[in-house]
Parts: sequence; structure tokens; C-alpha cells
Amino acid sequence: MELKKKVGYAAAELVKDGDIVGLGTGSTTHYFIEKLGKRIQDEEIEIMGIPTSYQSSLLAKDSGISITTLEEYSIDIAVDGADEVDNTLNLIKGGGAAHTMEKIIDEAADKFVVIVDDTKIVETLGAFPVPLEVIPEARRTVSEHVKKFEGIPALRMAKMKDGPVITDNGNFILDVQFKLIEDPAYLEKELNVIPGVVENGIFAGIVDKVLVGTPEGVKSIKKK
Ligand code: 5RP
Repeated sequence: MELKKKVGYAAAELVKDGDIVGLGTGSTTHYFIEKLGKRIQDEEIEIMGIPTSYQSSLLAKDSGISITTLEEYSIDIAVDGADEVDNTLNLIKGGGAAHTMEKIIDEAADKFVVIVDDTKIVETLGAFPVPLEVIPEARRTVSEHVKKFEGIPALRMAKMKDGPVITDNGNFILDVQFKLIEDPAYLEKELNVIPGVVENGIFAGIVDKVLVGTPEGVKSIKKK
């Protein structure tokens, strides 16, 4: 938790007065949003947030960050977490089932910054299953499709509710375990053309910078 806090707080310093900020989802962005709220209060800067989930929207409100929408504004900077980051800054996201809105907002931002602790850095993506947000009626047919890519699908089950996780958009999540993903951009596109898939958790080629929390401090990796 300490590394997530350090990296979340460091990312909050990248935001400038007047920015419209994409607010990611998860336990690392929790610290980013918390610190951004503190900066707004202490420095009297004007910032508006565009949340990627109910989680980030509620936290932003509690932290004193005004909320707006993509309909009203373009995004200067988006800051979000990730479940895996490979050596060319492709990601797997969706551990919190929020990847559809996250991809819309992160991709639309002028600058997309990812914040992770050092456990998330991998050579090649694929140890973490790829989450697919799926229209409930398409659960079985999508599950059959992903087997063609040697994927093993599992319906994500809720913890404090009987039955499956229901996303903020009212859909199911299929977590698909692949072998190592050598070509994330290809797989990202192939998964999204399966009928019934709303969005998948591979984010290929859209990251500008990754901040990594390590025991030696926060390290920055820029897109090459
Ligand atoms: C939510 C996400 C999160 O950003 C990702 O799961 C990382 O979460 P955490 O910071 O809690 O490790 O993609 O859908």
C-alpha cells in the first residue's frame, strides 16, 4: 500500500491549474484522487475531474473535486492504474471491472499516465487474465469464441452479492486466461470484434508515461 500511495501522490503533482483530469479506478488511483483533492484545497487551483467509474466519481466528490463529462470538455491528462505493464508500455486493465469507461477516457486524454507499484511490471503480458465486458446474453457465445484464441474464460463472480459481477454499465465480466500475449495490439482488436464484447482490458499503444513505485522511490518510464 505504501508504494501505491507514493506513486499516486507523485502523479497528483503532474496536474496543472486549469486541467481537466481523467480520474482512473482502483486502489492506486484512490491515492491520486485523494492527493488531488488536497492540492485543490491547499493551493486553490481550479481542476475538474472526469471519472471512469462510480468508485472514482464518489471518491472525487468526497475529496472536493468537481465532476464534469466528456460531453462538455476534452481531457488534458488522465491518470489510471493497471494490472500489468509490459516493456513497451502495453497494459492489461479491468481488475476492477471498469476498463470500458477507463479506455474511453484514457485514450481521449492528451496525456495518459499510468501509476503502478513494481509488482505490475512484466516482460510480456498474459499472467493476468484479460477481462472482457460482455452483454449478459452473449456469455456462452463469447466464451466459445475466445477458445479459438486458446483463451480459458471464467465468469467473474461477485464477493458480497450472489451471482456474477455486474459492471457500472450493467454487463458481465469474462476473465480470459491466455498464454503469453506476444502481440497485444492484434489480440485487442480481435477480441473487440466478437459479437457481444463491449470492450476488453488490453490497452495497446496509448500510454505516454508510467510512474512506478519502487522501494528506492518513484521511477518514470516514458514512451519510446
Ligand atoms: C480497474 C483497473 C485498475 O486500474 C487496475 O485493476 C489496478 O488496480 P489497483 O490500483 O487497485 O491495483 O483497471 O478496472
